[in-house]
Amino acid sequence: MSKKKPVVIYGASGFSGRLVAEFLREYNVPFIAAGRNRAKLEEVMSRVPGIETADYEIAAVGESVDDLAKLFAGAKVVCNTVGPFIYNGPRVIEASLQADCHYMDIGGEQAWIREVDEKWGEKFAARRLLAAPATAFMSAVSDAAARLLLETGAIDTLETVTMFKGIPTFGSTQTIFAVIQTDAYYLEQNRYKPWPRATRYDVAIPGYIQNQLALAWGGFPHPVWFKNHPQVANVRSFGGLLDRQIMENIAATEKMFEEQIRPLPKAEQEKKLADMANSVQGATPPRENTHEQRTIDVVAGRGTMDYGQCVVFGTCAYRQTGLIQAFAAHHLLYAPPRKAGFASAAEAFGARELLRVLESHGLAKAKLYS
Ligand SMILES: NC(=O)c1ccc[n+]([C@@H]2O[C@H](COP(=O)([O-])OP(=O)(O)OC[C@H]3O[C@@H](n4cnc5c(N)ncnc54)[C@H](OP(=O)(O)O)[C@@H]3O)[C@@H](O)[C@H]2O)c1
Repeated sequence: MSKKKPVVIYGASGFSGRLVAEFLREYNVPFIAAGRNRAKLEEVMSRVPGIETADYEIAAVGESVDDLAKLFAGAKVVCNTVGPFIYNGPRVIEASLQADCHYMDIGGEQAWIREVDEKWGEKFAARRLLAAPATAFMSAVSDAAARLLLETGAIDTLETVTMFKGIPTFGSTQTIFAVIQTDAYYLEQNRYKPWPRATRYDVAIPGYIQNQLALAWGGFPHPVWFKNHPQVANVRSFGGLLDRQIMENIAATEKMFEEQIRPLPKAEQEKKLADMANSVQGATPPRENTHEQRTIDVVAGRGTMDYGQCVVFGTCAYRQTGLIQAFAAHHLLYAPPRKAGFASAAEAFGARELLRVLESHGLAKAKLYS
């Protein structure tokens, strides 16, 4: 019998999962491409660039914790790309712990990040395992930028904005709609404070003359990552697409949700949000184009006397995500995470290291202004 591959991509048939596979192959990391539909996994994997030289196998798996734990047993790292994570994350993280695997995912939903912190962090830490949701473009890159900025002065207040130009996938669209129902928090004097619902924010982004429309979009992971940080007391995070019309539509949906859908029972809320997402994006978009799908992360830091900004100019949000996952999985095969339990990617693998790997692949470059 062949040896168990050390990394499992759960959701490998998706747009992001196939990019994780592509970059794992570049790192020469053997992996299992897992998901619920063998025929689709085979079809998608056969089209991953360079796949003929990858050491991988395909596994169709049931959705239960037991099924997943059985598949993960003997592996070291689970890369979960099945979202929305508020719905699909719990069974996968539970199975990862049962199988003694490090757990990473690409979900940026703050409600999910809080759940991992509060429910799973200590359990993973006790086994020296990593539980790192949002090991992805949104919001690992801005988190790494924030940590560089903190080194430059007595900064205790962070504001982050992450935006990208591109076509959200089916899974991303489902998630953008699913987070509308969740509670979103920012951090003020190290306490969670609820964001006002359905509120629009105009943000100034370097490289653009016109202001962009951003949303608090579920709150983002940063307030959770920086809760109880010795230096940081205040964190507010925003984000969106670099496309005003799409953002106007999402802002209008948030408002409509508050007026018409929030009074309904939870299951009905979820169904209505999923149906709305289906009507917007039912297909898989084409492969990203470096010249078109630009990204930007802006982190502003403020103390009483000190100020600084770190801006990460980049391209291809989904490819950044695939690379970040593969880089992190490769690291875990050779060295333990810098922090076990609940951690951001920058805490687990180093902010500089993460930004360096993106830069060396031509996907993002950080600039510090302080
Ligand atoms: N934070 C970030 O920067 C970032 C970046 C990219 C993506 N994401 C998030 O990652 C998630 C996936 O995005 P994507 O672009 O890969 O979407 P996608 O192309 O739609 O792929 C979704 C994947 O999840 C699988 N899946 C969905 N529901 C499932 C279920 N109930 N059981 C088992 N598998 C299921 C799909 O399987 P089938 O193929 O069988 O349908 C597919 O493999 C979304 O939540 C998105 O928001 C975050």
